[in-house]
Amino acid sequence: MASLDDETHRKHEKSVEEPPRPPVLTAKPAVYSGCCLGLSAPLITHFHTLLPPSPSLVLSVGSGFGLLEAHLNAGPSPLNIVGVEVEPSPNVYLPVSSHRIVHGSRFLEPLAGEATAWLFVYPRRVGLVQEYLAEYSEGSVEKIIWAGPKADWDDYVGCFSGWDVIIQSTDEVGGRPWELIAVASK
Ligand SMILES: C[S@@+](CC[C@H](N)C(=O)[O-])C[C@H]1O[C@@H](n2cnc3c(N)ncnc32)[C@H](O)[C@@H]1O
Repeated sequence: MASLDDETHRKHEKSVEEPPRPPVLTAKPAVYSGCCLGLSAPLITHFHTLLPPSPSLVLSVGSGFGLLEAHLNAGPSPLNIVGVEVEPSPNVYLPVSSHRIVHGSRFLEPLAGEATAWLFVYPRRVGLVQEYLAEYSEGSVEKIIWAGPKADWDDYVGCFSGWDVIIQSTDEVGGRPWELIAVASK
Protein backbone atom coordinates (compact mmCIF):
# COMPACT_ATOMS: atom_id res chain seq x y z
CA MET A 1 0.00 0.00 0.00
CA ALA A 2 1.30 3.48 -0.85
CA SER A 3 2.26 5.68 2.09
CA LEU A 4 0.50 8.99 2.69
CA ASP A 5 3.60 10.80 1.45
CA ASP A 6 3.53 8.82 -1.82
CA GLU A 7 -0.17 9.62 -2.25
CA THR A 8 0.40 13.31 -1.60
CA HIS A 9 3.33 13.34 -4.00
CA ARG A 10 1.32 11.63 -6.72
CA LYS A 11 -1.60 14.07 -6.28
CA HIS A 12 0.84 16.97 -6.59
CA GLU A 13 2.39 15.52 -9.74
CA LYS A 14 -1.09 14.99 -11.17
CA SER A 15 -2.05 18.59 -10.49
CA VAL A 16 1.05 19.82 -12.32
CA GLU A 17 0.78 17.47 -15.28
CA GLU A 18 -3.00 17.37 -15.54
CA PRO A 19 -4.45 20.68 -14.50
CA PRO A 20 -8.14 20.77 -13.62
CA ARG A 21 -10.61 21.44 -16.41
CA PRO A 22 -11.53 25.09 -16.44
CA PRO A 23 -15.17 25.94 -15.69
CA VAL A 24 -17.48 25.86 -18.69
CA LEU A 25 -18.21 29.39 -19.85
CA THR A 26 -21.68 30.69 -20.64
CA ALA A 27 -22.98 33.05 -23.31
CA LYS A 28 -23.04 35.95 -20.84
CA PRO A 29 -19.89 37.34 -19.20
CA ALA A 30 -19.27 36.22 -15.63
CA VAL A 31 -16.53 36.56 -13.05
CA TYR A 32 -14.59 33.41 -12.30
CA SER A 33 -12.29 32.86 -9.38
CA GLY A 34 -8.76 33.84 -10.32
CA CYS A 35 -9.55 35.87 -13.43
CA CYS A 36 -9.98 39.63 -13.37
CA LEU A 37 -11.48 39.81 -16.88
CA GLY A 38 -15.15 38.86 -17.15
CA LEU A 39 -15.26 35.76 -19.37
CA SER A 40 -17.84 34.26 -21.69
CA ALA A 41 -17.82 31.73 -24.51
CA PRO A 42 -18.26 34.48 -27.14
CA LEU A 43 -15.35 36.44 -25.67
CA ILE A 44 -13.08 33.40 -26.01
CA THR A 45 -14.21 33.03 -29.63
CA HIS A 46 -13.35 36.69 -30.16
CA PHE A 47 -9.85 36.27 -28.67
CA HIS A 48 -9.37 33.35 -31.07
CA THR A 49 -10.05 35.69 -33.99
CA LEU A 50 -7.54 38.23 -32.66
CA LEU A 51 -4.64 35.93 -31.87
CA PRO A 52 -2.45 34.06 -34.37
CA PRO A 53 -3.21 30.36 -34.84
CA SER A 54 -0.88 27.62 -33.62
CA PRO A 55 2.01 27.03 -34.12
CA SER A 56 2.61 30.79 -33.74
CA LEU A 57 3.51 31.47 -30.14
CA VAL A 58 1.40 33.75 -27.96
CA LEU A 59 2.88 34.90 -24.66
CA SER A 60 0.48 35.96 -21.92
CA VAL A 61 2.36 38.07 -19.40
CA GLY A 62 0.79 37.88 -15.94
CA SER A 63 -1.46 34.91 -16.66
CA GLY A 64 -2.60 34.55 -13.02
CA PHE A 65 -4.56 31.32 -12.55
CA GLY A 66 -4.27 30.72 -16.31
CA LEU A 67 -8.02 30.46 -16.76
CA LEU A 68 -8.35 32.62 -19.87
CA GLU A 69 -5.24 31.03 -21.35
CA ALA A 70 -6.49 27.49 -20.69
CA HIS A 71 -9.68 28.31 -22.60
CA LEU A 72 -7.62 29.70 -25.47
CA ASN A 73 -5.46 26.57 -25.47
CA ALA A 74 -8.57 24.38 -25.74
CA GLY A 75 -11.38 23.93 -28.24
CA PRO A 76 -11.31 22.88 -31.87
CA SER A 77 -8.44 25.25 -32.78
CA PRO A 78 -6.23 25.49 -29.70
CA LEU A 79 -3.72 28.30 -29.68
CA ASN A 80 -0.10 27.86 -28.71
CA ILE A 81 -0.19 30.12 -25.69
CA VAL A 82 2.31 30.22 -22.83
CA GLY A 83 1.48 32.05 -19.62
CA VAL A 84 4.13 33.82 -17.56
CA GLU A 85 3.82 34.42 -13.86
CA VAL A 86 5.93 35.56 -10.95
CA GLU A 87 7.25 33.02 -8.49
CA PRO A 88 5.44 31.61 -6.50
CA SER A 89 3.05 31.27 -9.41
CA PRO A 90 -0.70 31.25 -8.76
CA ASN A 91 -1.13 29.13 -11.90
CA VAL A 92 -3.86 26.49 -11.66
CA TYR A 93 -5.06 25.77 -15.18
CA LEU A 94 -1.98 25.73 -17.40
CA PRO A 95 0.13 22.60 -17.76
CA VAL A 96 3.84 23.02 -17.06
CA SER A 97 4.55 22.92 -20.79
CA SER A 98 2.49 26.11 -21.24
CA HIS A 99 3.77 27.99 -18.23
CA ARG A 100 6.90 30.00 -17.45
CA ILE A 101 7.91 31.51 -14.14
CA VAL A 102 10.02 34.63 -13.54
CA HIS A 103 11.73 35.40 -10.25
CA GLY A 104 10.09 38.74 -9.53
CA SER A 105 7.80 41.38 -11.00
CA ARG A 106 10.78 43.21 -12.58
CA PHE A 107 11.88 40.14 -14.54
CA LEU A 108 10.99 39.51 -18.19
CA GLU A 109 10.50 36.18 -19.94
CA PRO A 110 12.91 35.83 -22.91
CA LEU A 111 10.35 33.75 -24.83
CA ALA A 112 8.82 37.16 -25.64
CA GLY A 113 11.45 37.52 -28.36
CA GLU A 114 10.04 34.45 -30.16
CA ALA A 115 6.34 35.12 -29.64
CA THR A 116 4.23 36.51 -32.49
CA ALA A 117 1.71 38.00 -30.08
CA TRP A 118 1.76 39.18 -26.49
CA LEU A 119 -1.22 39.34 -24.19
CA PHE A 120 -1.44 41.62 -21.16
CA VAL A 121 -4.67 41.08 -19.24
CA TYR A 122 -5.11 43.38 -16.26
CA PRO A 123 -1.39 44.12 -15.94
CA ARG A 124 -0.54 45.86 -12.68
CA ARG A 125 2.19 48.15 -13.98
CA VAL A 126 2.58 50.26 -17.13
CA GLY A 127 6.33 49.79 -16.74
CA LEU A 128 6.00 46.06 -17.42
CA VAL A 129 4.55 46.68 -20.90
CA GLN A 130 7.18 49.36 -21.55
CA GLU A 131 10.00 47.07 -20.42
CA TYR A 132 8.83 44.22 -22.69
CA LEU A 133 8.62 46.64 -25.61
CA ALA A 134 12.06 48.10 -24.91
CA GLU A 135 13.66 44.67 -24.65
CA TYR A 136 11.79 42.50 -27.17
CA SER A 137 9.80 44.60 -29.68
CA GLU A 138 12.48 44.00 -32.33
CA GLY A 139 11.81 40.25 -32.07
CA SER A 140 8.96 38.28 -33.63
CA VAL A 141 6.09 40.18 -32.02
CA GLU A 142 3.55 41.58 -34.48
CA LYS A 143 0.54 42.08 -32.24
CA ILE A 144 -0.03 43.05 -28.63
CA ILE A 145 -3.38 42.69 -26.94
CA TRP A 146 -4.12 44.62 -23.80
CA ALA A 147 -7.31 43.92 -21.88
CA GLY A 148 -8.42 45.61 -18.70
CA PRO A 149 -10.63 48.28 -17.19
CA LYS A 150 -11.52 51.19 -19.48
CA ALA A 151 -10.43 53.46 -16.64
CA ASP A 152 -6.84 52.15 -16.89
CA TRP A 153 -6.39 52.44 -20.66
CA ASP A 154 -5.26 56.09 -20.62
CA ASP A 155 -2.23 55.00 -18.57
CA TYR A 156 -1.27 52.38 -21.17
CA VAL A 157 -2.09 54.01 -24.50
CA GLY A 158 1.28 55.80 -24.59
CA CYS A 159 3.11 52.45 -24.60
CA PHE A 160 1.86 51.82 -28.13
CA SER A 161 2.93 54.97 -29.96
CA GLY A 162 4.06 53.93 -33.44
CA TRP A 163 1.70 50.93 -33.41
CA ASP A 164 -1.74 50.78 -35.05
CA VAL A 165 -4.17 50.50 -32.18
CA ILE A 166 -7.82 49.45 -32.37
CA ILE A 167 -9.87 49.56 -29.20
CA GLN A 168 -13.08 47.68 -28.56
CA SER A 169 -15.48 47.83 -25.67
CA THR A 170 -15.65 44.25 -24.45
CA ASP A 171 -19.46 44.31 -24.22
CA GLU A 172 -19.46 44.35 -28.04
CA VAL A 173 -17.57 41.06 -28.11
CA GLY A 174 -18.92 39.12 -25.14
CA GLY A 175 -17.42 40.92 -22.15
CA ARG A 176 -18.42 43.47 -19.56
CA PRO A 177 -19.13 47.11 -20.49
CA TRP A 178 -16.45 48.62 -18.25
CA GLU A 179 -13.64 46.61 -19.80
CA LEU A 180 -11.77 47.21 -23.02
CA ILE A 181 -9.61 45.27 -25.43
CA ALA A 182 -6.88 47.13 -27.28
CA VAL A 183 -5.24 45.44 -30.25
CA ALA A 184 -1.90 46.98 -31.22
CA SER A 185 -0.40 45.87 -34.55
CA LYS A 186 3.04 46.72 -35.90
C1 LIG B 1 -3.96 41.88 -11.71
S1 LIG B 1 -3.19 40.33 -11.95
C2 LIG B 1 -4.01 39.75 -13.44
C3 LIG B 1 -3.88 38.28 -13.62
C4 LIG B 1 -4.68 37.72 -14.80
N1 LIG B 1 -4.21 38.20 -16.06
C5 LIG B 1 -6.16 37.98 -14.64
O1 LIG B 1 -6.76 38.63 -15.48
O2 LIG B 1 -6.73 37.52 -13.64
C6 LIG B 1 -1.57 40.77 -12.57
C7 LIG B 1 -0.64 39.58 -12.59
O3 LIG B 1 0.59 39.97 -13.19
C8 LIG B 1 1.60 39.23 -12.56
N2 LIG B 1 2.90 39.86 -12.84
C9 LIG B 1 3.41 40.98 -12.28
N3 LIG B 1 4.65 41.21 -12.77
C10 LIG B 1 4.91 40.20 -13.66
C11 LIG B 1 6.02 39.87 -14.47
N4 LIG B 1 7.14 40.59 -14.48
N5 LIG B 1 5.94 38.76 -15.24
C12 LIG B 1 4.82 38.00 -15.22
N6 LIG B 1 3.74 38.26 -14.46
C13 LIG B 1 3.78 39.35 -13.69
C14 LIG B 1 1.18 39.23 -11.10
O4 LIG B 1 1.80 38.19 -10.38
C15 LIG B 1 -0.31 39.05 -11.22
O5 LIG B 1 -0.69 37.70 -11.13
